[in-house]
Amino acid sequence: TIRCQSTSTDGPKTRNLLDNASNLLTNFLSGGNLGSMPVAEGAVSDLFGRPLFLALYDWFLEHGSVYKLAFGPKAFVVVSDPIVARHILRENAFSYDKGVLADILEPIMGKGLIPADLDTWKPRRRVISPGFHALYLESMVKVFTNCSGRTISKFEELLERKGLQGGEAIELNLEAEFSSLALDIIGLGVFNYDFGSVTKESPIIKAVYGTLFEAEHRSTFYVPYWKFPLARWLVPRQRKFQKDLKDINDCLDGLIRNAKETRQETDVEKLQQRDYSNLKDGSLLRFLVDMRGADVDDRQLRDDLMTMLIAGHETTAAVLTWAVFLLSQSPSKMKKAQAEIDSVLGQGRPTFDSLKKLEYIRLIVVETLRLFPQPPLLIRRTLKSDSLPGGHKGDKDGYAIPAGTDIFISVYNLHRSPYFWDNPDEFEPERFLAQRQSEGIEGWAGFDPSRSPGALYPNEIISDFAFLPFGGGPRKCIGDQFALMESTVALAMLLQKFDVELKGPPESVEQVTGATIHTKNGLWCKVKKRSDVH
Ligand code: HEM
Repeated sequence: TIRCQSTSTDGPKTRNLLDNASNLLTNFLSGGNLGSMPVAEGAVSDLFGRPLFLALYDWFLEHGSVYKLAFGPKAFVVVSDPIVARHILRENAFSYDKGVLADILEPIMGKGLIPADLDTWKPRRRVISPGFHALYLESMVKVFTNCSGRTISKFEELLERKGLQGGEAIELNLEAEFSSLALDIIGLGVFNYDFGSVTKESPIIKAVYGTLFEAEHRSTFYVPYWKFPLARWLVPRQRKFQKDLKDINDCLDGLIRNAKETRQETDVEKLQQRDYSNLKDGSLLRFLVDMRGADVDDRQLRDDLMTMLIAGHETTAAVLTWAVFLLSQSPSKMKKAQAEIDSVLGQGRPTFDSLKKLEYIRLIVVETLRLFPQPPLLIRRTLKSDSLPGGHKGDKDGYAIPAGTDIFISVYNLHRSPYFWDNPDEFEPERFLAQRQSEGIEGWAGFDPSRSPGALYPNEIISDFAFLPFGGGPRKCIGDQFALMESTVALAMLLQKFDVELKGPPESVEQVTGATIHTKNGLWCKVKKRSDVH
């Protein structure tokens, strides 16, 4: 069970006694005293029936940008301030690891970049990072357009069939369609494997979804029962999980073996010169194997591929899902987006160069990430004691935190903070063109695009950590530009051809979370051919 600490005076005495005991235990277990840090009060019911990150937002407004929350015997510090987030993620990044997140993900991703301890992470990040260089990204635009083209053809065929029956719109769960599209793109981009999931089902696709489902289940289940001896054999869902994992690992092992066996010196030369024009396989796996030769540890490589498969799939699908959700409630913004697409692309496909001109679509993508950050919470644990700096409000003196303290950095709270954004809950892609300055908040530099010259998309540097869609500091997302360009291409190609409306009222699209924010029952939409283009 999840309990929220209460210091209520109106409840029965026994409850206060229990709460005080829980406080003492919490402080003891978290290694010390978190000083005068406010403690979130709330009813247990606040945590049920809606995602945790929404409850954390209400408590942020009530208790300020650094507060403590207890889950049973365990305490979490919740951070919703850019100065404190910057300290944890960048300035003192190596005093933290991934804590609870690593515990959950390690059985799936092994020693892949996301859960990796610092000693494993450092050399791997150095090897993988160069793989995402500008020419690789440029070559990926073709993968994005080809895969999006398959989704569009599928919709056109369905519409044609519907037309024969006298209808002009089809009803589709676009969340599921985006999930297939993002899976196909990540498979081709990272290891040149075509899942073909837009058009077919296969055992390996089912295994990938099964594994993602289990990762989400584990991220929301407080007791790690899957670690108990025999659980993997006795609990049916754990048996299924082990089978899914084995199927994917066998597939990835086969791809790695193949990449090593087909390593050709001519391709290595092309890669060294970053010449992607004539390469048959420009995937990241090819780069990692070709540039590093046969000395790459297969197990580590597999963990890295699995990590990128999971990290790059649901996240991007979620961005597309919520972008359509937001646009469908704002017909004037939808029209403005389509007008930009028509003027930049006409009936053609996006290219690397045209992405630069699709400014409004890019802003829609980042505004969607502001309102629906994926994941909404970043998780850390202190490796040694640390002093958190003061935030912008109330807690100006900061707090000493002991080693072993678990932390949630709420990106959701930062992105909807009334202290940093005008109309924080409104969908206003244009806001990034006219961001506010710091207005004298000590220690926060405010918004300033000149800090990141040439950046196609607003980022954490421009906003001095008030906008953190990909995290920040050394463990920032490695696939940020890949994902942004992919989302821009897919959204532009969809809106170029179709008008999209929600099937039901927006309130019926409930949010649920695992690792990302997704809908409870799918994003059901009416999709039809645009009537204003021929
Ligand atoms: C890390 C978000 C797409 C690979 C992260 C982090 C965030 C994030 C917030 C930081 C986690 C932390 O600090 O705890 C997103 C979003 C995406 C996306 C919103 C899509 C819109 C991708 C893609 C890939 C990828 C496409 C790979 C192709 C990774 C990896 C890390 C990471 C490997 C770990 C980096 C490290 O620790 O060195 N992502 N991501 N992500 N992401 Fe992404």
